Amino acid sequence: MKSKFVFIFCVLLFSKNVMADESSSPFAAMSAWQNQRGSIFTIDRVDADGKLTGTFINRAQGYLCQNIPYPVVGWIYGTAISFTTKWQSTTESCNSITAWTGFYNRDSGKIETLWDLSISGSTERSQILQGQDTFTPSPIMENKSLLDK
Ligand code: BTN
Repeated sequence: MKSKFVFIFCVLLFSKNVMADESSSPFAAMSAWQNQRGSIFTIDRVDADGKLTGTFINRAQGYLCQNIPYPVVGWIYGTAISFTTKWQSTTESCNSITAWTGFYNRDSGKIETLWDLSISGSTERSQILQGQDTFTPSPIMENKSLLDK
């Protein structure tokens, strides 16, 4: 009888943890994040493996390829995140790729990242631009879905 209770307790504990993990991912599909430069990173989809797709609209001063949604691909693993954008489109191309890697900070509710920007034709590691971006949840998606209704 005792082992039956222990078994049921373990099953409940396990399923609670699994459900908590799934429902507590900070990187929800259809979420939008704005960095300190005004750029917008949108997560459109996260599959069961943690593969993400979305878009990035660059609004950072001093950079080209502005105000165009470029595709983003990446990964989510718990609170860790990595995503990349190829700055190529029919409207404007910049011969470059940016990769951001970081984590969701549960205390601040922000995504803190380091990024590398590699320009096609580079010949030295020193030509890779590096920086930091912090992303804050943006209400842009909520507005979009309200407009869609
Ligand atoms: C380029 O100029 O080669 C393409 C645009 C790069 C924009 C960079 S990516 C890292 C940083 N964070 C932003 O939001 N924009 C700049």
